Amino acid sequence: TQSKPTMLSALRLTSKRSFSVAAVNPYKVAVLGAAGGIGQPLSLLLKLNHKVTDLRLYDIKNAKGVATDLSHIPTNSTVKGYTPDQPDALRDALKDTDVVLIPAGVPRKPGMTRDDLFNINAGIVSGLAQNIGEFAPQAAICVISNPVNSTVPIVAQELKKLGCYNPKKLFGVTTLDSIRASRFISEIKETDPTKEAVNVIGGHSGITIIPILSQQKEMPKTITKEQKDALIHRIQFGGDEVVKAKDGAGSATLSMAFAGAKFADAVMSGLNNEKDVIVSSFVDSPIFKDQGIDFFASKITLGPQGVQKIHEYGQLSPEENEMLEKCKETLKKNIEKGVNFVK
Ligand code: NAI
Repeated sequence: TQSKPTMLSALRLTSKRSFSVAAVNPYKVAVLGAAGGIGQPLSLLLKLNHKVTDLRLYDIKNAKGVATDLSHIPTNSTVKGYTPDQPDALRDALKDTDVVLIPAGVPRKPGMTRDDLFNINAGIVSGLAQNIGEFAPQAAICVISNPVNSTVPIVAQELKKLGCYNPKKLFGVTTLDSIRASRFISEIKETDPTKEAVNVIGGHSGITIIPILSQQKEMPKTITKEQKDALIHRIQFGGDEVVKAKDGAGSATLSMAFAGAKFADAVMSGLNNEKDVIVSSFVDSPIFKDQGIDFFASKITLGPQGVQKIHEYGQLSPEENEMLEKCKETLKKNIEKGVNFVK
């Protein structure tokens, strides 16, 4: 029949194409905490990304099940699962990786702030960071585990202790704040959310998240101050909507997986020397270093060595300047808390 050869040639075409793309972008990626609410859909999205050729999934439980399941998807990457019952599991999961994503840790329950997670997640993240320092000091590290404002400094401190800290390759993933801002503003402007971008700076929790709405062109003239304040609040506390709706079953996982996969894709595009890869991230930043704030989220350009350029945040309105002052106070404490944990 006609259909058989057509199908076969279509398959050949697909595999040929994915092979040639993969040859340009052969990235090894590890997900630590891969069997969790974020870890599973994040790993699925990474399995679908042609830039990834070698996907390693580590978790204290069920990583092998998730990996075997994903390994049946016919994309051009291998998937392997690692759990602590195997000798050298973390070493094998991390060795020679280009990108490591960390969604390991406990999520929030209703009424909790991200800071309430510190006691448990700080220990988890610092243990993982020590292993990354030992087995994958070259990798770009993307920290998802909350409180990001403190877990990122924890990773930095652990790597400093091991003498392998590279500030250009450590990222706090704040992409969820950016995508929420795009979505929520598009609902007010009645526009296509995929075309909306809001410059979100500061940190990743409540009032440290600052969407700079004054830089938005074409805001509807009819928008009132109350509507604007409500939009800012929704971007800052959007995570609470999910925590409340899930009613004890966790926080954002699917939108976060999308955000994490988008961020990882940008990191790989940078490593691959693609031009103008600009994203927001909480990084080791010169912007407020003179005020004792070593990490700050702003737009960055990604390149083959990781962070290539940290962008200035631009002009702020008087209200936004006020928000920034409050953000800095909290951020400073959050960062110190992380640093002191390792000390
Ligand atoms: P979850 O509880 O569903 O999954 C966490 C996973 O981590 C579990 O599978 C658990 O077994 C694993 N885990 C625990 N200790 C580990 C260790 N030492 N090594 C490896 N794996 C370990 O939680 P969920 O919903 O996936 O959230 C994970 C983290 O991500 C939380 O800290 C949460 O607050 C944070 N988060 C961050 C966001 C962001 O925008 N950066 C957004 C949403 C959540």
